[in-house]
Amino acid sequence: MAMEIRTTGRAVPARKVTNDELAKTMETSDEWIRSHTGIGARHIADDSVAASDLAIEASRRALESLAAEDGITAEEAAASLDLIIVATASPDYLGFPSTACLVQAALGATKAAAMDVAAGCSGFIYGMDAAAGMLATVGTRKRALVIGTEVLTRITDWEDRGTSVLFGDGAGAAILEKTAAPSEGKGKRGIIRSLLGADGTGAEHLIMHRGGGRFPFKKGETVEKPIHIEMNGRAVYNFAVKIVVETIERLMAEEGISADALTRIVPHQANARIVQAAAKRLGVPEEKFYLNIEEYANTSAASIPIALDELARSGSLKRGDLILTVGFGAGLTYGGNLIVW
Ligand code: UT7
Repeated sequence: MAMEIRTTGRAVPARKVTNDELAKTMETSDEWIRSHTGIGARHIADDSVAASDLAIEASRRALESLAAEDGITAEEAAASLDLIIVATASPDYLGFPSTACLVQAALGATKAAAMDVAAGCSGFIYGMDAAAGMLATVGTRKRALVIGTEVLTRITDWEDRGTSVLFGDGAGAAILEKTAAPSEGKGKRGIIRSLLGADGTGAEHLIMHRGGGRFPFKKGETVEKPIHIEMNGRAVYNFAVKIVVETIERLMAEEGISADALTRIVPHQANARIVQAAAKRLGVPEEKFYLNIEEYANTSAASIPIALDELARSGSLKRGDLILTVGFGAGLTYGGNLIVW
């Protein structure tokens, strides 16, 4: 029994804002942003668009591809889903209903269970492992839709140049299916190994303080700033380099492989410098890591599934390729999936 990615999809808002455009509204420059992060632009959703809207668009693309492959309609593909997991740090609503339920309704995925995963930028990796486990434990469950979707520009403090230049909006989706292929030994396929972890002692380093039960908005209160991301960039950077290296090393050691066996490493796109530093420490060529941060900036839980969809649709991934996804984020959380494509 294998957990295979059947198809993928992505949705990115049309409006692209370059570093130079941002530099007209705040004290920053294309040179600073590129040299410190590798970011060249970000896509920003219109005010009317929320995380569920991007998730629905990305999911429809994945479902259309599935429908084409299986000779069914996209509606039938949606109705065949047993589970929807949405990873997001910028859900439509605080607490409930889950963004996954909104996606479930819009797609007409009438038999699907639906829930959100809150694991920051590691959310898609957590979601894939959760979905694989949930498909494995119940015999009748066969198909899961796992989505990473964000409208981070909606929860960004545009007066803070240290964070606002970093984030972008977008969504990526993958359809995971339980198949008869083996998950171990010769000819193994799908998600063959996962590693998930957290270091909650770093919770304060990447946080949205307001709006939750700890510091709720109160009647009559004058709010100085909208709800927004607060980040200790240096602390997250140091954690990220260390944990990306450790996660890749542990997954390769558990699988008994070296980096040569990997077709691609698909990292969370937070900062090109984090990837470069990790590649150097690992002694792995930088080109093995897929980077699209220049175009999209950091789209949190959406960054890995967007990258997977770009790779899949451009024909860069062949059946049987071994890929490793690796991420880190608020929580602090981290993780990786080792996948035979
Ligand atoms: O998805 C996971 C979430 N986040 C991350 O992975 C982020 C991890 N951290 C990072 O990527 C980096 O720490 C940042 C990109 C956030 C910051 O880079 P840095 O090299 O750590 O810069 P810094 O915060 O130490 O700031 C250096 C200087 C400061 O000026 P002074 O104090 O040296 O005069 C900042 O005020 O750069 C200044 N600065 C800027 N200048 C122009 C900070 N932001 C900007 C900006 N434009 N946008």
